[in-house]
Amino acid sequence: MLSALEKRSLPIDERVRKRAETEFGSTTQPAICYVCNRDANSLDELRHSLEVKRNIEPKKLVCEPKPKQQQQQQRERRQTRNHCMRARSHARPLADAETRTSSRSTAPIVSSLKRGSGSWERKEKKGRQNRKMASLQGLAAVVTGAASGLGRATALRLAANGVRVVLADLPSSNGEQTAKELPDGLGTFVPTDVTDEEQVRAAIEASGDRLDIAVNCAGLAHAIKTLSKRGPHPLDKFKQTLDVNVAGTFNVCRLAAEKMAKNEGEENRGVIINTASIAAYEGQVGQVAYAASKAAIVGMTLPMARDLASSRVRVNTIAPGLFDTALLAGLPEKVKAELGATVPNPSRLGDPDEYAQLALAIVQNKMINGATYRLDGALRMQP
Ligand SMILES: NC(=O)c1ccc[n+]([C@@H]2O[C@H](COP(=O)([O-])OP(=O)(O)OC[C@H]3O[C@@H](n4cnc5c(N)ncnc54)[C@H](O)[C@@H]3O)[C@@H](O)[C@H]2O)c1
Repeated sequence: MLSALEKRSLPIDERVRKRAETEFGSTTQPAICYVCNRDANSLDELRHSLEVKRNIEPKKLVCEPKPKQQQQQQRERRQTRNHCMRARSHARPLADAETRTSSRSTAPIVSSLKRGSGSWERKEKKGRQNRKMASLQGLAAVVTGAASGLGRATALRLAANGVRVVLADLPSSNGEQTAKELPDGLGTFVPTDVTDEEQVRAAIEASGDRLDIAVNCAGLAHAIKTLSKRGPHPLDKFKQTLDVNVAGTFNVCRLAAEKMAKNEGEENRGVIINTASIAAYEGQVGQVAYAASKAAIVGMTLPMARDLASSRVRVNTIAPGLFDTALLAGLPEKVKAELGATVPNPSRLGDPDEYAQLALAIVQNKMINGATYRLDGALRMQP
């Protein structure tokens, strides 16, 4: 042991060294600097060894940096800090993300114009930056009918923008395979019949602690006339169409809204997108049940948006024209081309990704609410 006199006469570092040496000779615990990952200097090793021996939670060691090493450490710290800030901003919920862009959108330009500061180019550059779309990174979505066609394209596009997606489709669908196509493991398939309350609850539960986006693409169609040579339209087919297309859509909307309303956000806590059809306006021969179901979806858009306004959840509907999906898969290419030619401009069938693009635009533009958008290349269906 060192005498009190000896202790006082030695510099502090020397005292630590001496104490460590007297306590356990030259055996020291190896220690690494937590900044540069290299061996800490011998004094720090000794200090560390003392702490370990006395069961004190060891302090993080930082080796004494040499000038070059010091610069490197500063660079690394800066990179870590920037990375953390980026990660934090990506993790912000939809509400924040949107408020972020909107609050940035005009205020800086207006105030700089008022002050008369900066050149026109600088203001223009600022404007361009402010016009960037809100990031969807870190949001969570449920897409029904996601195993095929419009739902699949939407799930793919959402995931490509960093959104975690629950793919809700029938157990018989190839939802499992579609989920694997989504990048970075962002897709989870939950076998779901949209008409079943418990199954829809489970799909929504699978989105995790929050839900920001719900897109309803599950739907079916029967081509049966009100009265044909085979007799009157079977009532069960009519009821089934309404059950899946209307009650199924509504089932998802009400349960999704319940979860979205729990999100934080002054303006936007979530957004619901339903899928109607232009058959809602120009139903053709044999589309009586289908047209009725799609008209119901158009009809519930505004009242639902009004109902959910106090919960800060938006509701919109897309009414597609003719899209190249499984619905038309059975048709020969020639017939598909003929159908495409009936579309004024662009004169072709729609690409499912064009539906997904509109869905994302609706998600990102928080002023869009209570509306139905035709997506049909100006097509008006003939009888
Ligand atoms: N493709 C078009 O031209 C077109 C035009 C207008 C409207 N739409 C509408 O768009 C939506 C998507 O159509 P699509 O073309 O992608 O069809 P699709 O057949 O490719 O996809 C529909 C999906 O819904 C699923 N589904 C059916 N019943 C379900 C249920 N009870 N529960 C859960 N999932 C169910 C199916 O398994 C399928 O994966 C439908 O509502 C359809 O009416 C399509």
